[in-house]
Amino acid sequence: MSFTRKPHRQNSDTRAVSSTSTMIFTAPSTGAKVKMTERASPGGGDLLINISCDQRTADDVADAVGNARGREIYDDNPSAFELKALEQLKDASPALVRAINLAFSRNPAAIRVTGLPSRQPPPATPLDGVAAQDELQLPLRLLAGAARAASLVGFAYASENGGRIVRAVCPVQTEAETVSSHGAVDLGFHADNADLPVPDAFDLHPGDTKPMNAWQGFVTITPRARVPMRFMVLADAIAWMRMRRWDEHIDRLMQPEFNAAKPASHGIDAVLSNLPVLVPTRSGAMASRYHAVNITGMNRDATLALAAFGAAIEMCKAELLVPGRAGDLLFYQNPRCLHRRQAFKPAYDGQDRFYLRVYFDDVARVESAAAGRHRRVYL
Ligand SMILES: [Fe+2]
Repeated sequence: MSFTRKPHRQNSDTRAVSSTSTMIFTAPSTGAKVKMTERASPGGGDLLINISCDQRTADDVADAVGNARGREIYDDNPSAFELKALEQLKDASPALVRAINLAFSRNPAAIRVTGLPSRQPPPATPLDGVAAQDELQLPLRLLAGAARAASLVGFAYASENGGRIVRAVCPVQTEAETVSSHGAVDLGFHADNADLPVPDAFDLHPGDTKPMNAWQGFVTITPRARVPMRFMVLADAIAWMRMRRWDEHIDRLMQPEFNAAKPASHGIDAVLSNLPVLVPTRSGAMASRYHAVNITGMNRDATLALAAFGAAIEMCKAELLVPGRAGDLLFYQNPRCLHRRQAFKPAYDGQDRFYLRVYFDDVARVESAAAGRHRRVYL
């Protein structure tokens, strides 16, 4: 399964994706193959990478990772869990680990890994929104091992998800109306943890020792085709605005003239002011703390610029839909992408749409900023 572009009428707003490049990684002993494909995002502003595993690789991974003994809880000792998962992945498929490592080194906006094994029948979708980690060993090892292959490690925020690293993205009946991954309302495009400082960027933030998560990673447990994952590369929306000479709005979005409310999932009523929405990064890319609901302008021009940006992301036709299959991994750079989930009607029957999500960041930053090497929680 490759990135699926949202169907739309062709028009002059979008550039065709022209350049793709493919590399094949082969296991010398078995001939198992892993294919890595790089291509431009729909608007040509950033890079997307697909890694697909053939059946032989999937079988090797199922043997070495799925059948490995032990039922460790990721949150109990994240370092041990991640390093062991990486070793299991290396045993199963050095080609896959090399492909993942190379993919991250290219600094793309997003990476998908497909063709990985999954447990059948799928584990039940938790009604209380808490992942039963002992029942989810294979998907969690895939997610943690793949991230660790790129020196990324999981962490949590103390005020969200009970301070746990592993988040069950699934509907919870008592949270149906919340603007969160447990809700069922339209989330609107956003970056997660938009109120926190953007990492590796020139952010005019008043200061907070804990950064916004640099990456978010998902493993698919139970996809639902009618409610796919949706995201967009920020650079595509900005390119669309530049083409229309909306530079004044872009400049305004870079000024510290916006309020950011703490996300509902943190359960804290707080608003931070004097923040920019668009922030240049050290790598030269643009990042954002855009949030359709939680960010507001502090004056008329800021409010207008925010409305223009909201219109641009709707009109630029660069949205990517990821229906996904069980076992698929998706990683994207949180400040360089926007994501959303449409409103839907959950059944609350244990079979609803279900992903596991982990916030990832560079191992050195997490270990210096988190409260405790083993807990990996930002206070
Ligand atoms: Fe989100």
